[in-house]
Amino acid sequence: SAQASRYEAEDAACEGTVDSNYAGFSGRGFCNTPNRVGARMEFTVHAETAGTLTLGVKYANGSTAARPADLSVNGALVRSAVAFEPIGAWSSWAVENLTVPVRAGANTVRLTAATAGGLANIDYLDTARAGDSA
Ligand code: GCU
Ligand code: CA
Repeated sequence: SAQASRYEAEDAACEGTVDSNYAGFSGRGFCNTPNRVGARMEFTVHAETAGTLTLGVKYANGSTAARPADLSVNGALVRSAVAFEPIGAWSSWAVENLTVPVRAGANTVRLTAATAGGLANIDYLDTARAGDSA
């Protein structure tokens, strides 16, 4: 769709390092935040018009516990503790789907770790206008 875009973690604000030591990532790497509450990363997502976007956040969680993250858009909390469930290996990837309100133009989409594990490793964020097919 006209609204479909990919935002790579290496082009976003990653608190931590952009790593490439596990296979299966897109682009040059993925964001690896420190293991602590409040660790975060932020994407700047562009929308043609105000409305609702579906976000697909590709992540890996090779630990044995969820890596819950609070989701905020333009500074406002949209959803608490999005799970980012474990998927067995750091080289296995899954997508967490999120629906967010956006304004026309630039929007800050922030994930903030809710637990001491920090965030899952994050590869990219895809957007699509809610209701669009790919
Ligand atoms: C390991 C892994 C990292 C991951 C980290 C974590 O160190 O190599 O890629 O980010 O665990 O627990 O967050
Ligand atoms: Ca980490």
